[in-house]
Amino acid sequence: MNILGIAGSPRKGGNTDLLLTEALNSAAQKGGKTEKLYLDDLKIRPCRACMVCKSEGVCAVEDDMQTVTEKVKEAEAVIVATPVYWFSCSAQTKAFVDRLFALLAPDYSSQLQGKKGALIAVCAQGDPSVLIGVEKLFADIFAFNGMDYVGKVLCPGLLEQGAVKTNQEALARARDLGKRLC
Ligand SMILES: Cc1cc2nc3c(=O)[nH]c(=O)nc-3n(C[C@H](O)[C@H](O)[C@H](O)COP(=O)(O)O)c2cc1C
Repeated sequence: MNILGIAGSPRKGGNTDLLLTEALNSAAQKGGKTEKLYLDDLKIRPCRACMVCKSEGVCAVEDDMQTVTEKVKEAEAVIVATPVYWFSCSAQTKAFVDRLFALLAPDYSSQLQGKKGALIAVCAQGDPSVLIGVEKLFADIFAFNGMDYVGKVLCPGLLEQGAVKTNQEALARARDLGKRLC
């Protein structure tokens, strides 16, 4: 199983990053081939809605998303990991998913069809309902693309960078997610 982890927080060693690492390491232990991309290290401009991808089959915006798109196409499973920023995903994560629009054919069939998708999301507030928006966002995105939404780790109550290190239950759920992907 070829698993691509999309790290959507600018904080390396932050909560989403640690949970994603836990999931990827656990998948690797089960024989998965894993890779993690830090979106914040990459230049991924927002979608311009030029629709060139629909007429030409490729995105007209030339930046790092070309490489990311190839890795997404090669992956059998994609784990998206994002912090909650204002009840949604981070801007880095939103730019990434918007640019995946280029993988939709003119009839809106998707090149992501049949891939596995999983979500890791964290927020500072202790109220789990804060994560509902992000969860629905990715449930809808995975479903629209014909992906198999295999699991999620949603973790409220994490404010400081690395706070999840003491949350053994969340780390265990991340490991379980990694195992289930393989
Ligand atoms: C710009 C910004 C917006 C945020 N918005 C929310 C929010 O709406 N609700 C919330 O509970 N936490 C919010 N947070 C807190 C982060 O979700 C929280 O600190 C999280 O643990 C960060 O994850 P990371 O360590 O992976 O970067 C926000 C943080 C930032 C920087």
